[in-house]
Amino acid sequence: MSLISPWRADFPGILALEAEGQTYLDSAATAQKPQAVLDALLAYLAGGVANVHRAQHLPGERATRAFETTRSKATQWLNAASANEILFTRGSTESLNLLAYGLQHLLSPGEQIVISALEHHANLLPWQQLAKRLDLELVVLPLNDAGDIDLSAAARLISPRTRLLAASQLSNVIGRWQPLAELLALARAQGAITVVDGAQGAVHGRHDLQALGCDFYVCSSHKLYGPDGVGLLYGRSDALSRLQHWQFGGEMVLDADYQDARFRPAPLGFEAGTPAVSAVIALGAALDWLNNLDHAAVAAHETALHGELLAGLASRQGVRLVGEPRLALACFHVDGVHNADLAHLLSEQGIAVRAGHHCAMPLMKGLGLSGAIRVSLGLYNDGDDLQRFFSALDSALELLR
Ligand SMILES: Cc1ncc(COP(=O)(O)O)c(C=O)c1O
Repeated sequence: MSLISPWRADFPGILALEAEGQTYLDSAATAQKPQAVLDALLAYLAGGVANVHRAQHLPGERATRAFETTRSKATQWLNAASANEILFTRGSTESLNLLAYGLQHLLSPGEQIVISALEHHANLLPWQQLAKRLDLELVVLPLNDAGDIDLSAAARLISPRTRLLAASQLSNVIGRWQPLAELLALARAQGAITVVDGAQGAVHGRHDLQALGCDFYVCSSHKLYGPDGVGLLYGRSDALSRLQHWQFGGEMVLDADYQDARFRPAPLGFEAGTPAVSAVIALGAALDWLNNLDHAAVAAHETALHGELLAGLASRQGVRLVGEPRLALACFHVDGVHNADLAHLLSEQGIAVRAGHHCAMPLMKGLGLSGAIRVSLGLYNDGDDLQRFFSALDSALELLR
């Protein structure tokens, strides 16, 4: 019997796509939204909007309360020590750029920033450009064959000159939990600042940032079944207190004169201007939705569906996986077939998968690949989605070979 998803009916977007003949297998890029998120968005927008943190009137107080409620929910969800450790940004990319700007005064020429070979461009380019600007050394940790950051190489390469480590929790190409506990311990032993890119990892399982012990952690609402345009940036309070302000404008200031100003501490000091109020409020509904799931059932569904995906790929001749994916997604290429041709034929059959370099060009180049196809799974996906994908894959390969 085909695997069913008990959550599929919660997602009008997935049902609408299905009615159009589309099978959505691209949730690592962005996830569909549950009805509860759409309801929260509409309820706020239709109920009378107001700006936050600046109005004394009732609608303003109501909007501020709802906005700050999401901060409290995110605090609990990530197990941060205080709501002041959660900043709203536009997404993981903006959070990482904010960090690369806000921490630069702590770095000096000749010091090292350490990243890994599997980083998304969002967790590579801000550090690369910072390293170029400040004459720092960018050290890239290699991977083992399975696709994990190589810890023995990390032990060798992380040195007293390492001032910052930035690494992904879960790769968007390989789909494996990275050995973060060990990696962060190596960096901490050198007194380095630690940054975790949780854009993919945050979506799966529950997280305890106090236990993880990183200085900073970033993730994006739109991958977490919430609206786009919002990111969460966690910073432990002592780490946040060393961050330099970066965007200047309304509501981030304590006192301003023409020639000088004093700024608020985190979080508001890092949220200049009008934030994405409606999206933040609806993110609160997404976090509630996630929190109310039966987590054992989620883990069982994710494992079973991913197992079916891997088994189906393994049974097809010439299909090569990128690394050894363990959850959420699988990237593959097919001997003698260009990934763009395959993606085109899949798309013509209503299969929405991602093809290309997956914003990890150096990783792809290192693997000798011009690109790969990525199938990524959301909680709404079921066995029928995979069957449609595999029958489209078989037809496409028959044509291309
Ligand atoms: C691992 C990883 N990091 C960072 C990002 C950037 O996230 P966003 O586009 O939401 O800023 C992504 C997006 O796919 C990602 O997969």
